[in-house]
Amino acid sequence: TIIPVLLCGGSGTRLWPLSRKSYPKQFVRLMGEESLFQASARRLSGEGYAAPVVVTADAFRFIVTEQLAGVEQAPQAILIEPDGRNTAPAVLVAALWAADRDPEALMLVAPSDHVIPDAEAFRAAVAAAVPRARDGDLVTFGIRPTRPETGYGYLELAPGASAQATQPQNIARFVEKPDPDSAAEMLASGRFLWNAGIFLFTARAILEAYAAHAAEMLDAARAALAGAEADLGFTRLAAEPWAKLAETSIDYAIMEKAGNLAVMPFGESWSDLGGWDAVWLESGPDAAGNVASEGATAIDCRDTLLRSEAESQRIIGIGLENVVAVAMPDAVLVAKKSEAQRVKEAVAALKAQG
Ligand code: GDD
Ligand code: MG
Repeated sequence: TIIPVLLCGGSGTRLWPLSRKSYPKQFVRLMGEESLFQASARRLSGEGYAAPVVVTADAFRFIVTEQLAGVEQAPQAILIEPDGRNTAPAVLVAALWAADRDPEALMLVAPSDHVIPDAEAFRAAVAAAVPRARDGDLVTFGIRPTRPETGYGYLELAPGASAQATQPQNIARFVEKPDPDSAAEMLASGRFLWNAGIFLFTARAILEAYAAHAAEMLDAARAALAGAEADLGFTRLAAEPWAKLAETSIDYAIMEKAGNLAVMPFGESWSDLGGWDAVWLESGPDAAGNVASEGATAIDCRDTLLRSEAESQRIIGIGLENVVAVAMPDAVLVAKKSEAQRVKEAVAALKAQG
């Protein structure tokens, strides 16, 4: 069986004001009836999957248990990070946790903020990737790129490898978050796939990769787990060793350096809902290009997203084009859709004001 390792410690500031520090985007019902976290947990359940291991922040622990109960899942562990140090430490402790039980255990590491509408196709891709992962390779999932996005990792197909294959392919190199020129070149070459941010490997294989490329993290991570406190079903990692771990992502710390990478091409729809423009696109705009939530009305608008999360507050747009407007009880965002990524700046400014 495969152990889903659900990472959900991120703060998702680009979807402010819906995504908040105390309740970030992965836990919000962004689309449909379930949160993205719930949809991820459900996607990785059923035959062939063990109960999930969740790695998250203290502030989210009860949201996690409540939301998992909502999709009828009981986690095998909820590992609580003393503070968020990005994904490299999070994956490492999950691997140590799994290896203590079975070094050959397969781990499917998944972010909790993605939209993959065809869950069945995704599980089929995972199943096709299993033999390669059992052989000790680190398997990534590759998405056909459609724009020179600089916020993703890029996977270069090895000579002879094909983006249409239905089996894992060799990759020549992993480039995390390229500069705009390199991103444009990689897109144009047709030889690259986006890294979906989802990984399949055995606990043993990923621990060997950490030993080879990030050996300085091992002792501290082991100590954080060995010194962990069990608390009401949560495993609270020890703060002192945890603080020694470098704050870096698994992409930079391991994937860019490892030689034993493979990619399983995934041809179906995938989005990481990285900003309001992505939410607009994934929500299925109507013929005029509008997305209006319940409580929102678009009159003579084009390519506009209107959303009200405040029950007593209607939102009406008239004659708008390429606008994002999101109303919460305590905050309203109005932005040009193409610049909505910049809410990050607003969040930083608000933080600075206290
Ligand atoms: N537990 C925990 N702790 N989870 C974290 C932390 C942390 O400190 N930091 C981030 N996460 C979670 C986020 O909630 C998210 O679900 C996932 O890990 C990935 O983190 P992001 O911060 O969203 O990464 P990214 O989008 O910049 O880049 C990654 O994903 C891209 C695809 O969406 C990389 O893997 C890229 O290569 C990839 O293309
Ligand atoms: Mg992301």
